[in-house]
Amino acid sequence: MLEHVPVLPDESAEFICSDLVEGTIIDCTCGAGGHSKAFLDRTEDNVTLICIDRDKDAIEIAKKNLSEYKNRVEFMNIKFSKIEEIFRERVVKRVFFDLGISSMQIDIFEKGFTYKKDQKLDMRMGGSDMTAYRIINEYSFKKLAEIFRTFGQERFSNRIAERIIEERNIKPVETTGELALIIRKSVPRNLQLKTLSRIFQSLRIAVNEELSELEKALSVSLNSLERGGKIGVITYHSLERNIVRRLTITRDDVKVKKKNPGKKEIKNNRRARSAKLYKIEKL
Ligand SMILES: C[S@@+](CC[C@H](N)C(=O)[O-])C[C@H]1O[C@@H](n2cnc3c(N)ncnc32)[C@H](O)[C@@H]1O
Repeated sequence: MLEHVPVLPDESAEFICSDLVEGTIIDCTCGAGGHSKAFLDRTEDNVTLICIDRDKDAIEIAKKNLSEYKNRVEFMNIKFSKIEEIFRERVVKRVFFDLGISSMQIDIFEKGFTYKKDQKLDMRMGGSDMTAYRIINEYSFKKLAEIFRTFGQERFSNRIAERIIEERNIKPVETTGELALIIRKSVPRNLQLKTLSRIFQSLRIAVNEELSELEKALSVSLNSLERGGKIGVITYHSLERNIVRRLTITRDDVKVKKKNPGKKEIKNNRRARSAKLYKIEKL
C-alpha cells in the first residue's frame, strides 16, 4: 500500500478494535484503506466494515487494497455527512475519521490541491458542485477575504483578495500556479510559504464544506452510538479540533482522550506532524 501512509495506524486500530467481537465499523474516510486494513486485521468475521469515501478514485484503490477481506467490507461512494442512514440499518459500534485529503489526491489524482504543482484550480474531493476556480473567479472581495480569514486564519486576507480581484479583471485565474504567484506577490517573501499553505487550505475547506461535513457526521455519531461505542478522529488543524472539542465538551456521556504521534512516526511521515487522534468513548 504505497499510495498513502496512514497516520497513527496502530493506536487507531487498538482503540477501535479493542473489545469488539461483532457489529459494524464505519471508516468515514477510507482513502487507500490503510486504517481500514488495520481494523480488519485485528477483528474476526463477525465484525464488518463500511468504507466511505466521497472520492470515487480512492474507493477503487481501496477495493484493490482490501480485496482479501471482500466478504467483510462494503464500499460507499458518499459524503460522510450521510451516515445517519447507515445507523438506521446496521448495528454500528465504531466510527472512524482520518480527516483532510490523502497523498494520492495530491500526488496522483491532480485535482489542484497544492501550490507545489501547476494544475487546474479545482480542489473537489468528490460530490461537490463548487470548485476553487469558481470561488477565485466569481466570489466578491468580501467573501474571498472571509474564506481566507475564517478557514485559513490568514492575516493578509484583505490584501490577497484585493490582488485576486485585480488580476481576474484582466483575465481569469485558471491554475494553481497562477494563484500561487498572486499570493506570493501579496505578502513579504519570508511569509510566502506559510501563506500559500493557509490560502490553499482555506479554499479546500470551502470547496468541500469540510467543517460542516465533520460537524454533521460527528453529531450523528455521538447521538446514535450506544454505550460502549467509540469514535476515533484524526485531526490535522485547529478548526477541526475546535469542532471535536465543542461537540464533546458539554456532554456528560462521553470520555475523550488525545494521542499525538511519536517522534519516530513524525520523522518517517510528514503528514503526522500536525496530527492528533481523539479517542471518544460513549459512556
Ligand atoms: C486522509 S485521507 C484518509 C486516508 C486513509 N485513512 C488511509 O489510510 O488510506 C482522507 C480521505 O477522506 C475522504 N473524505 C474527506 N472528507 C470526506 C467526506 N466529507 N465524506 C467522505 N469522504 C471524505 C477524502 O476523499 C480522502 O480520501
